[in-house]
Amino acid sequence: MSSEIKVAVNGALGRMGSTVLTAAAAENGVTPVGGVDIAASSDSVTIVGTSVSVPLTFGLAELFDIDKPDVVVDFTNGEAAKDSIIACINAGVRVVSGSTGLSPDDLEEIKQLSAEKGVGVLSASNFALGGVVLMHLAGIASKYFDYADLLESHHEMKVDAPSGTALSIAESMIVGRGKGFEQNVADLQTLEGTRGGDFQGINVHSARMPGRVARHEVVFGALGQTLTMIHDSINRESFMPGVMLGVKDVVGRSELVIGLASVLGLDKSKP
Ligand SMILES: NC(=O)c1ccc[n+]([C@@H]2O[C@H](COP(=O)([O-])OP(=O)(O)OC[C@H]3O[C@@H](n4cnc5c(N)ncnc54)[C@H](O)[C@@H]3O)[C@@H](O)[C@H]2O)c1
Repeated sequence: MSSEIKVAVNGALGRMGSTVLTAAAAENGVTPVGGVDIAASSDSVTIVGTSVSVPLTFGLAELFDIDKPDVVVDFTNGEAAKDSIIACINAGVRVVSGSTGLSPDDLEEIKQLSAEKGVGVLSASNFALGGVVLMHLAGIASKYFDYADLLESHHEMKVDAPSGTALSIAESMIVGRGKGFEQNVADLQTLEGTRGGDFQGINVHSARMPGRVARHEVVFGALGQTLTMIHDSINRESFMPGVMLGVKDVVGRSELVIGLASVLGLDKSKP
C-alpha cells in the first residue's frame, strides 16, 4: 500500500458522507478517490469546498471497477451499512462505518466474516472524540450512583431513536456498574412515555428538533447530589477528526473493532 490511503465514501451525497469527502480532501496522507450513493444521478461528484471531482456510482461494485480504494467510509443507514460492509470485506476493502442501526446479530455476522477474510472493519456510533470520552467517563461514574437518566437531542431528520451513541453510553454504564440501575417506576403515568425508555434502569429520553446536531447528557443521582455530563456536537465537522483517525487505524487491522475507544487507547484503562 502506498503511503496515501485511498478513501471512497458510501452515502457520499448524504449529510455525513459529503462532509467526509471534504475532510478526506483536506487530510494529509488520505486521498478521496470516489463516492457511492443510491441517489446518484450523475457519474461524478464535486467535493464541497474544493474544485476536485471524483467518480460517483450507484453501487460499490461499480466503483471498485473504476478504482479500488484502500478504505470505504460508510455513512448510510443500518440496513444499507450491513450489506455494504459485507460487500467490502468480500472485495478485500477495509471499512470505517459510522452508520447507526446495526443490530448485535449484524455485528456478529460482520465480526465473523471480517476475521475469516482478515479484512479490518471499524464500526462506531460516535466519531466525536468528546462523545467517546463521555462514554468512558459515564462508565467510570456509574459505580458510584444508583440512579441515572440519559437524554439525547438530535436534528429532526434523524430516523432512529434512541441514538446509537445513547445505546453505547448506556452499555458502557451497565458494564462500568456491573448491574442495572435503580429506577422510580411511576404508579400513575398520566402521559404515556413520559418516563422514557428503560435500558436496565436507565431512563432514556430522545428529543428531535431543528437546530440540534447531536447532544448527549447523562445525569446521575445519589443522596443529596447529582452529577451531569454533557457532550454537544455543534456541527458535522466535529466527527471528522475521529473519522480520519479511524481511516488511518483500520488499514492496520484485520478484524472488526467496535467503537473508537480502543483506537484512542481508552479500552486499556477500563473502569
Ligand atoms: N458515527 C457517528 O459519529 C455519526 C454521526 C452522525 C450521523 N451518523 C449516522 O450516519 C448515518 C448517515 O447519516 P446522515 O445524516 O448523513 O444521513 P443522510 O440521509 O443525509 O445520508 C445517507 C446517504 O446514504 C445514501 N444511501 C442510502 N442507502 C444507500 C445504499 N444502499 N448505498 C449507497 N448509499 C445509500 C442516501 O442516498 C444518502 O445520501 C446515519 O445512520 C446516522 O445515524 C453517525
